[in-house]
Amino acid sequence: MARVALVTGGTRGIGAAVSIALKNAGYTVAANYAGNDEAAAEFKKETGIAVYKWNVGDFDACGEGIKQIEAELGPIDVLVNNAGVTRDAMLHKMSKQQWDDVLNVDLTSVFNMCRHLIDGMRERNFGRIINMTSINGQKGQMGQTNYSAAKAGMIGFTKALAQETAKKGITVNVIAPGYINTEMVAAVPEKVLESIIATIPVGRLGEPEDIARGVVYLAADDAGFITGSTLTINGAQYIAG
Ligand code: CAA
Repeated sequence: MARVALVTGGTRGIGAAVSIALKNAGYTVAANYAGNDEAAAEFKKETGIAVYKWNVGDFDACGEGIKQIEAELGPIDVLVNNAGVTRDAMLHKMSKQQWDDVLNVDLTSVFNMCRHLIDGMRERNFGRIINMTSINGQKGQMGQTNYSAAKAGMIGFTKALAQETAKKGITVNVIAPGYINTEMVAAVPEKVLESIIATIPVGRLGEPEDIARGVVYLAADDAGFITGSTLTINGAQYIAG
């Protein structure tokens, strides 16, 4: 039987490419989304991938959503914590709401999802957890104290959980994308984005498929020795040690 993979924020941007790549690799995929019904319906129509709506920042909603997917598709063996938002502002202009939104959706969601799935993975002695961090969690980014903090937090979470679960056949890794050709990056002011692209040695934005390839690699059954790692995919914009 095909393994079941759940991708949060899985109907748009990097998440959509990840959902499609996992499907093409033979997984039964469930794509979670939070708000954009139209994009989700279009995605489902085009790909045949099942979509499930809930807010990953809501602990109880995560539990309900997971229960529904497991009842319909089977136990979830692969979790890709991809959902994320930006609320960019310099700290001296940042509201508490902008801070809370990003920390909740980008970081607390990782606890929410893993907490609900970890018991089943431990019982089955198998699991693949892949957390989508960011270059900006590695190097920091002006205008993103909230996002950089949340994304750096995901890296620490991953390293800790990898050690907890190593003996249970569960791997936990992060992928750190650089600037990828998605709506999130398109929202950066044009002049600023031009200056950012000028610092990417490969000379272009990444494509969502560049990241999806990394997810398929880490999700594989025979990737059991890769855990606690950070896979950096950023066109050499920032070379993390
Ligand atoms: N790189 C270089 N310079 C930047 C910058 C960046 N990322 N962000 C802001 N600046 C510079 C601006 O060019 C400007 O410089 P000048 O005064 O010399 O023109 C200065 O900082 C102040 O910027 P603004 O005039 O835009 O100030 P603001 O208060 O109106 O807006 C801001 C600030 C909201 C942070 C806005 O500049 C912005 O959105 N910057 C982009 C921040 C960014 O890089 N976000 C990444 C989003 S993509 C993502 O997060 C995905 C991922 O994982 C990589």
